[in-house]
Amino acid sequence: MLRAQFVTAPAGPISARRQATPLWWAGGALLAGGAAAAAILTYAFQVEPLDIRLERLTVRLPGAAGRLPPAGLRILQLSDSHFHGGKRTRREQAKIARVRALTAGMEYDLLIHTGDFIHFDGGLENVLDLLDAVPRPRLGAFGVFGNHDYTHYAMEEALPRMWRTFCAQERQYDQQRSWPVRLGAAATRWLRYVHYVRNTPLDGRRTGSNDAGRLNQALEQWGMTILHNRATHLYRPEIGLDLYLAGVDDVIEGRPRLGDSIRDIPAGAPLILLSHNPDIIVSPQLPRVDLVLSGHTHGGQIKVPLWGPAHTQVEHVPRQHVSGFFQQGRTQVYITRGLGEGIPLRFRAGPQITLIEVVA
Ligand SMILES: [Fe+2]
Repeated sequence: MLRAQFVTAPAGPISARRQATPLWWAGGALLAGGAAAAAILTYAFQVEPLDIRLERLTVRLPGAAGRLPPAGLRILQLSDSHFHGGKRTRREQAKIARVRALTAGMEYDLLIHTGDFIHFDGGLENVLDLLDAVPRPRLGAFGVFGNHDYTHYAMEEALPRMWRTFCAQERQYDQQRSWPVRLGAAATRWLRYVHYVRNTPLDGRRTGSNDAGRLNQALEQWGMTILHNRATHLYRPEIGLDLYLAGVDDVIEGRPRLGDSIRDIPAGAPLILLSHNPDIIVSPQLPRVDLVLSGHTHGGQIKVPLWGPAHTQVEHVPRQHVSGFFQQGRTQVYITRGLGEGIPLRFRAGPQITLIEVVA
């Protein structure tokens, strides 16, 4: 009797287990998916944004033969620090410590910052800490302003705002569309909206201004010259240096005047341009520039596998050149991913600083 009970008792649970197996699989898959999503989010928020890399680049300027030091001109480029201050200070100081470690003992000629120093006025102290963290350059420090140095935005409103803009455009197009085309357009509206977002700078509502005058003054006091639509002649005959460095104001929030910046530069003199926003490449004066150094794109900031950058924040730069080096006509262009971000996450577009060696 006891034996019979022992044999028959497990039959129920075994059968129940067999019936539950698909559910267990589904539950397991959900758990695994949730864990993977949590791991990716943790990485994107807590790991990658702090993992600043030092990248090295050599740029050849054939037109600068005899006007560069024999060992070349070494430029350390910082960009897009986006410092907030306040609650972000600890995170920002961790980035500064990382930059200090990466540049310890570095010998170089020019320090440049290609804009978006701050995200909010409260980030200024951390910007000055960042500049103090790198070794002083041999020849000088220069910068240009980015859109965030002037303005802050409600980026969380960008997608709904862009949906409204997109729909308004669609309504206009619909007036010229036949009804079958209108039907097709309606059926594919969401897909085309995703395409629109991917290829259009995010349209965050402007929520206020940063004190660009105060920022400019603090940077000048530190020893960094801000090139607002002007150029400087880097002329040091004792080391064989004779080239021009120009800067333009921001394309979105400033008044960029490349023509004014370079008007007094003699024809044929080698010229490097700092522009926060690489969309300056559509300027008619671009062919006069040998090398453009930019930031702004954050390298896409989030690169989705098989999809690429979630968005590029530019209108005139091909998607494949959202960061790195490319040629535009006779002009060479380099876009850094920068070292900060407004929304504090990055995925497969890590932060960087760059040591650029310019040789003839
Ligand atoms: Fe930026």
